[in-house]
Amino acid sequence: MQNSKIVGTGSYCPELVLTNKDLERIVDTSDDWITKRTGIKERRIAKDGQFTSDLAAAAAREALAMAGLKASDLDLIVVGTVTPDRQFPSCACTVQHKIGANNAAAMDVSAGCSGFVYALSVAHNAIRCGASKYALVVGSEVLSAVTNWQDRGTCVLLGDGAGAVVLGPAEKDTGIRSIKLKSDGAFGDLLYSVDDNITRPVPSLPERHNHTKPFYLVMDGNRTFKKAVQCLEEIALATLEEAKVGVDELALVVPHQANLRIINALAQRLGLPEEKVYVTIQKYGNTSSATIPVALHEANTSGLLRPRDKLLLVTFGAGLTWGGSLVDWAA
Ligand code: COA
Repeated sequence: MQNSKIVGTGSYCPELVLTNKDLERIVDTSDDWITKRTGIKERRIAKDGQFTSDLAAAAAREALAMAGLKASDLDLIVVGTVTPDRQFPSCACTVQHKIGANNAAAMDVSAGCSGFVYALSVAHNAIRCGASKYALVVGSEVLSAVTNWQDRGTCVLLGDGAGAVVLGPAEKDTGIRSIKLKSDGAFGDLLYSVDDNITRPVPSLPERHNHTKPFYLVMDGNRTFKKAVQCLEEIALATLEEAKVGVDELALVVPHQANLRIINALAQRLGLPEEKVYVTIQKYGNTSSATIPVALHEANTSGLLRPRDKLLLVTFGAGLTWGGSLVDWAA
């Protein structure tokens, strides 16, 4: 069975910057609190009329250009998102149309902040079994559209952005060496959306916030934090074990960027030095499924990645969902 490898990366984060100082004028918070408790200094916000598919298409074009491929070379598009432009058609179909990928099948994957790694798994397996040759995998979000701007516990954390990779065929034992995915719906009450239009009341989910929008995100930050650290460590070790790669062989870890303290706790548990963990949270906050591909593209274009470097992608998100991938950098 052949394998898949990353042949191009891209990202797009909107130009509009919302700083912690700006947030001090919106909710009762401070730059000092946000920096110390989360590591975030600023985040990007999409402008009116700029949708998840627009961010995704921009990231996709960049990834295709790096891969030296045309949009028409793609036979699969998988977009991980929790903020699609609309319920249907899928964000992936809209992206397909925007970039002109007229030979591709397109679908969305909904897996919270793990959306990118889940989408990567779908595309990777399509290439492995011969159903696909070149696949576009995107993580894209406009979280500002589902943020409760009166809830200081969540609005300071989130941002908008998109990242993309193009996958192509690879020799066995190169490229993506392992992907592990896990979910546990029993913890759905940690982080969920309230949608007055489509959600029936679920008795087990606490309604802790006033409705300020018909659709917004609710999170139990403290419990989420503890589960995140535990799940990230578990999936990191399982992903490494499946690929038969030791922690000491890793060149770089690209974790989901939800909170710097979560990232540091993971690094400490794995015994990883700070310089081997890629961090972008200070600039973009938590952009859900976009954090990993945005960070990966940044690491790639800053010349950090060398052929045969071993990279570990690890993520965690609403669902609960969590996942990891060991990438043997073959680009
Ligand atoms: N500014 C100032 N104070 C804030 C605040 C803010 N933005 N948000 C919360 N606080 C206050 C709380 O009201 C609380 O005050 P109290 O002690 O008077 O009750 C205090 O800070 C501590 O709150 P707590 O929720 O215990 O803080 P924390 O250290 O857990 O940090 C998060 C809060 C949200 C930053 C943290 O829990 C977190 O990052 N959780 C995980 C988030 C995550 O990973 N989400 C995405 C998963 S994909």
